[in-house]
Amino acid sequence: MERLLEREDELARLVEIVDAARDGRGALTLVAGEAGIGKTSLVRELRDRVAGDAVAFFAGACEPLSVPAPLGPLRELFEAADGGDLLALGSEDRLTVARALLDALGRRAPALAVIEDVHWADPLTLELTRVLARRIEELGVVMAVTYRDD
Ligand SMILES: Nc1ncnc2c1ncn2[C@@H]1O[C@H](COP(=O)(O)OP(=O)(O)OP(=O)(O)O)[C@@H](O)[C@H]1O
Ligand SMILES: [Mg+2]
Repeated sequence: MERLLEREDELARLVEIVDAARDGRGALTLVAGEAGIGKTSLVRELRDRVAGDAVAFFAGACEPLSVPAPLGPLRELFEAADGGDLLALGSEDRLTVARALLDALGRRAPALAVIEDVHWADPLTLELTRVLARRIEELGVVMAVTYRDD
């Protein structure tokens, strides 16, 4: 892969956040910037630096659909973490869904879970992401959320 220019400070900070997750302290971290500035490239480089035997990597992405698929990126994360189908829980209750997702990710800790492009997220995904943010600290899991801020 081509080298990223002028991203060492950001990468060093993100690697520190993942290192804290290895010690059991999780975090939700936001990667914001205008279209094309390099958000995806940054999280891919982070993955390449930290993921492997020691740190599991999961990813989910939002898509520019006129009607976004409910929980689309969180379903992707849940399935990637071997949790199965999040919708099969048969519950729309925020805490139930959040707990299931946190359990699945927590079992794979230390882990880096990326949610790409939340500017396209459905409202339920946004709401749940806020719930997850408040509960992820006790797990060795980093959620990195990217979005366009323009
Ligand atoms: N730090 C960098 N140095 C050099 N090239 C870069 C850097 N960051 C990104 N690029 C290049 O810029 C282009 C856009 O990057 P990327 O897809 O990561 O942006 P993005 O912020 O995720 O865009 P979008 O908002 O569309 O998702 C890619 O071709 C990528 O290789
Ligand atoms: Mg991108």
